[in-house]
Amino acid sequence: MGSCNVIEHPLLQHKIGMLRSVETGNKEFRELVEEIATLICYEATRDVATVDAPVETPIKRTMCKFIEKKFAIVPIMRAGIGMLNGLLNLMPTAKVGHIGLYRDPETLRAVEYYCKLPADIEEREVFLIDPMLATGNTASEAIKYLQARHVRKLKLLCLIAAPEGIAKIQEEHPGVDIYTATCDEYLNDHGYIVPGLGDAGDRLFGTK
Ligand code: URA
Repeated sequence: MGSCNVIEHPLLQHKIGMLRSVETGNKEFRELVEEIATLICYEATRDVATVDAPVETPIKRTMCKFIEKKFAIVPIMRAGIGMLNGLLNLMPTAKVGHIGLYRDPETLRAVEYYCKLPADIEEREVFLIDPMLATGNTASEAIKYLQARHVRKLKLLCLIAAPEGIAKIQEEHPGVDIYTATCDEYLNDHGYIVPGLGDAGDRLFGTK
């Protein structure tokens, strides 16, 4: 089974508290999502392989470690876009794909409306990003879409997860590791995470 990594770093928890607050406006919310995404990315790349290569410092030649693996970042639209720059801060040469899925408000099922991926996606380690892992339906569909395009190494990064969403991904995609800042209590009847932070897309883009 894939691991679920809840990152309990104090900096991250402090920022999650600010993010949750109903007092936090759109500008600050966007900044916090980006900062938290950077911190989660730092943890999610902890096991990336490195190769040794020599470097001349002004003093001496020494062996250093470099990452050779190519990355892709795939936000699930639209809220995943809020996390994108947070990951690009640490992986500026990563290619970016987009998966457009929305939740049907009646059925809570994922419906595809736009997908565009880097041509060589199958050669890349993919970081799938979406701030809220709620039912897990959308993330699960996105993972299936990527796996159908021969993505083999894939991690799912979110900010807040519900136990239901974690269970679904672990059951349907045992090879996928999840990284989140917190696992909340439950989903309400409208599919919102409790206590959560409300609608991440609306709070990022000021649409409500
Ligand atoms: N999507 C959101 O934006 N918030 C939730 O609580 C669940 C899904």
